[in-house]
Amino acid sequence: MTTTCIPIKNVSQRADASRYPLDQWYVAGFSSELTNKPIARTFLNQKVVLFRTSEGQVAALEDRCCHRSLPLSCGTVEDAGVRCGYHGLLYAPNGQCIEIPGQERIPSKAKVKAYHVVEKNKIIWIWMPREEGAEPTCLAPAYPFHDDPRYKFGSGNYHYKAPWQLIHDNLLDLSHLGYVHLQTIGGDAKLHMNAPMKVTSEGDQVKVVRLMPNSSPPPTYRAAWPFGEKCERWQEIEFDVTHLRIWTGAVEPGTDAIDDPNRGGFHMRGFHGITPETEETCHYFWSMSSTKHPDMPENIEAVIQQTAFTFDEDRIIIEAQYQNMLEFGEKASWVDIHVDAGANRARRIVAEFLKKQATAELSKS
Ligand code: FES
Ligand SMILES: [Fe+2]
Repeated sequence: MTTTCIPIKNVSQRADASRYPLDQWYVAGFSSELTNKPIARTFLNQKVVLFRTSEGQVAALEDRCCHRSLPLSCGTVEDAGVRCGYHGLLYAPNGQCIEIPGQERIPSKAKVKAYHVVEKNKIIWIWMPREEGAEPTCLAPAYPFHDDPRYKFGSGNYHYKAPWQLIHDNLLDLSHLGYVHLQTIGGDAKLHMNAPMKVTSEGDQVKVVRLMPNSSPPPTYRAAWPFGEKCERWQEIEFDVTHLRIWTGAVEPGTDAIDDPNRGGFHMRGFHGITPETEETCHYFWSMSSTKHPDMPENIEAVIQQTAFTFDEDRIIIEAQYQNMLEFGEKASWVDIHVDAGANRARRIVAEFLKKQATAELSKS
């Protein structure tokens, strides 16, 4: 028998093609987060429970028991799946209820929505489809640096009280380093602002490159590498609709060319998964992989600590920015300056994406 439940608050659990790019792999978390407890997270307005079975399989289900709607994330993880914490229904990673304590027959409707998830390079990716139940149309992105012996990485995540695209804007324009991050990766603000920036795009990706020869090494660089008075810095940002890869670093003057992809020196490879939670909030999953100087073996820990500090600074700025945007309202327009080229290109790509999705939805109705 199925009973109708009475919704108290109608939270949309549907894929919303007008607000978010769909048919995409989004970051759901890092492998290290999934231990023996379920994790509740909302992605693109959809409440999801993430868990790992004792056999190591990662699963993502709608976070609602089909019996009486308790979040499955209030339950426990067992060998075969997740058990609801109210009356004990057990769900397999494919969303099917496989045990009802005290009742032999399992109704065919006793199941919940399951999402495709992939664990790759220590990142958990979730496929957010346009059509419910649709299969992924591409492979989850690769990020080999988490498994590259040349690097060691640390990671973290933030829940942001700000919309996801404000994080894109921030990461696609690193000119803010000289104003926001003086204690870590900043440096001379004028040098950042004056460094020529090259913006290119291909398909849905944007690349921003900025080279800064003759820079003074900022504090994090000095903590990690025995730079002299000057260093030659590079910043390479690659934007994808759901995540960004930012490769920064510096070589000592007179050694490798700063635009040589095989350059040595000090490297910071940042991974940034930006997954909308709602229109006004998002998840920000970051990792930092860095190289180790033989004379400074402790450097990676320092780099990771300082990265976390740096991203705390960004969060303060972005949440304050969004709060002010809310207070001033839509009429308070923005004026573009030269540093916005990469961010604006990415925004156009997302806008185009949403437009195409909206048109496709309209043609269905
Ligand atoms: S609400 Fe989940 S078993 Fe009853
Ligand atoms: Fe920043």
